[in-house]
Amino acid sequence: MTMNNASTVATMNAAKADTATNTTVTNTATTNTAKGSDMLLELDHISKIYGDLHAVDDLSLTVPEGEWLAIVGSSGSGKTTLMNIIGCMDAPSRGSVALEGRRLEDLNATQLADVRKNVIGLVFQKFYLVPHLTAVENVMMAQYYHSVVDEQQALEALDHVGLKDRAHHLPGELSGGEQQRVCIARALINHPKLILADEPTGNLDETNERIVLDLFRELHGQGTTIIVVTHDALVASCAEREIMLNHGVLVGERWNDEQARLAYEQSGGRPAFTGSSAQDAQHEGTAVDFSDPTKKAKTAGLSE
Ligand SMILES: Nc1ncnc2c1ncn2[C@@H]1O[C@H](COP(=O)(O)OP(=O)(O)OP(=O)(O)O)[C@@H](O)[C@H]1O
Ligand SMILES: [Mg+2]
Repeated sequence: MTMNNASTVATMNAAKADTATNTTVTNTATTNTAKGSDMLLELDHISKIYGDLHAVDDLSLTVPEGEWLAIVGSSGSGKTTLMNIIGCMDAPSRGSVALEGRRLEDLNATQLADVRKNVIGLVFQKFYLVPHLTAVENVMMAQYYHSVVDEQQALEALDHVGLKDRAHHLPGELSGGEQQRVCIARALINHPKLILADEPTGNLDETNERIVLDLFRELHGQGTTIIVVTHDALVASCAEREIMLNHGVLVGERWNDEQARLAYEQSGGRPAFTGSSAQDAQHEGTAVDFSDPTKKAKTAGLSE
């Protein structure tokens, strides 16, 4: 079943208007504001615990609006778990997350959905494209849940990631790299304030990796905050700051952009911090060597 025609777009928007009149979707989740902070994102001693496994282990991190942050670390180190928590798709077992000054644990399901829809653009490691919808329809679906469907705009977003010619194909008819770029177009279509990208270039060749990095540079230049998980040292080096996880524990933090570091410190930003006593963990105020064990690996495709 496909829907790539004008009448279907009109039907989607009409259905949307109906839904809008019947649903009270508030955007006023402004209670419980964490006072006195300019940070877009604040993680306060968060852990995610599965049985004996600490997938994320007592991590504190602040990210100001407009920063480009990379999260690196070997497979299983907790990167996706952390992204799911930041992206309001999972809750930490301990600790607190605040986005735009609002503590996520205090929001109800509707308010969390609003944050996901209005603030965040997600590029998933596993894509999660709807298999029976074409590339452009997958992008339009994100428009539908956000506001109004506009097929022309969706096509332009696909053109932006070099996929104009593949717009009317189903995900199953696209290569891994093409599906990844549909996922990126879908994440960016609603102009999110915060982009969370989990291995966004893991399946891309050099040319398409450059297209995506240029796109991120353009968005960062416009003030978008970007948090990217990557196994690729080149992609990580484009970020202003990198943090490294190992077994859920923060083991390193380094700045690639000195000006950004100064601005961060001047605005009251503190180093990322782990309170965990795990071996190799970074403790507050203690410098730790930052070396990237995943430098050569582009492993996203292998863990699918
Ligand atoms: N739902 C779950 N239940 C139990 N354990 C889980 C669950 N989700 C993740 N884990 C475990 O938590 C750890 C961190 O997983 P995560 O997916 O965050 O790693 P990652 O750093 O993203 O790895 P990769 O680079 O391979 O994508 C892994 O050991 C994983 O097996
Ligand atoms: Mg992962």
